[in-house]
Amino acid sequence: MAQEVRGVIAPGKDEPVRVETIVVPDPGPGEAVVKVQACGVCHTDLHYKQGGISDDFPFLLGHEAAGIVESVGDGVTEVAPGDFVVLNWRAVCGKCRACLRGRPWYCFDTHNAEQKMTLASTGQELSPALGIGAFAEKTLVAAGQCTKVDPSVSPAVAGLLGCGVMAGIGAAINTGGVGRGDSVAVIGCGGVGDAAIAGSYLAGAAKIIAVDIDDRKLSTARELGATHTVNSRESDPVEAVRELTGGFGADVVIEAVGRPETYRQAFYARDLAGTVVLVGVPTPEMKLELPLLDVFGRGGALKSSWYGDCLPTRDFPMLIDLHLQGRLPLEKFVTETIALDEIEKAFERMHHGDVLRSVVML
Ligand code: APR
Ligand code: ZN
Ligand code: ZN
Repeated sequence: MAQEVRGVIAPGKDEPVRVETIVVPDPGPGEAVVKVQACGVCHTDLHYKQGGISDDFPFLLGHEAAGIVESVGDGVTEVAPGDFVVLNWRAVCGKCRACLRGRPWYCFDTHNAEQKMTLASTGQELSPALGIGAFAEKTLVAAGQCTKVDPSVSPAVAGLLGCGVMAGIGAAINTGGVGRGDSVAVIGCGGVGDAAIAGSYLAGAAKIIAVDIDDRKLSTARELGATHTVNSRESDPVEAVRELTGGFGADVVIEAVGRPETYRQAFYARDLAGTVVLVGVPTPEMKLELPLLDVFGRGGALKSSWYGDCLPTRDFPMLIDLHLQGRLPLEKFVTETIALDEIEKAFERMHHGDVLRSVVML
């Protein structure tokens, strides 16, 4: 039987979000209904609400979630009712060229649930943000979007892996390949950059240089494993990184801002054989001009990282286990827990820069 639950929708471009009654259908073949326990508020939710991602309003927001599988449709073998799962926004197909070449993180045929959740009052179809829509008591997803993890972790912490924190940790360990003894510079220490710092620490980096324009961010970065900090309002970060790495530049530089000047800094702050990992998302009109001789004259690699090049079934359970062993302090990313009707306030707090993650508890 389809059921009615409370969920948060973005009704139209730049309109405030609101709690509505939504209808969640029974899971069809390959689908699952998940009772959501926690869901983090991400910048991408704000971008959806602002109309920056698509015009397909109304959206059902929320995509950094963990919860319990309530029911599954025909043919579902990945998960069963009662499983504690973290949701992901990239259930790979296993059949496309990228999947077959062993690089499923570039899969171009990811799938979401085929059925739609609807607004109870009008019957209007809702577009779940990133194919999840988890600012709701229950949500319908493709079974491949559910990854079973150790249920003894707190749901607020587990949900973080669904997006921003996984993007940062994965940028370091998956895309950047940070290893024991490496020097790493992270430019931009918000939630994503701090997760890259925690990932680098976990991977055994010897030097972790945090760069930001805000001293408060730099002190949190230290708590997560940064060994050095640079306020790039006060000193040139490229010079500072070189000085701290014996004149060479860092083995891995992770850009987690998404602006031309920080892309440029990342390009020049790396060792000649180093890797630049781009995680910060630029806007369509941004451009970067570089002397070709500098591009030619530097070896190493320039890589972008999308969702931390993660494989949910490989990475989510591993990172939760490391957290439960006390080796990955994911709880530091949960700045506050809030109720479903406080999301608009959480968006406002994002602008002030004093929150890593507000997490909605259901
Ligand atoms: N130099 C260094 N740091 C900067 C600069 C700059 N010029 N401008 C901003 N910052 C810092 C901010 O002070 C903040 O600490 O970058 C950080 C950005 O953090 P958040 O706004 O919290 O963003 P976050 O969620 O971490 O995402 C960062 O990664 O996945 C992408 O879309 C995401 O582009 C975004 C980026
Ligand atoms: Zn694929
Ligand atoms: Zn997100």
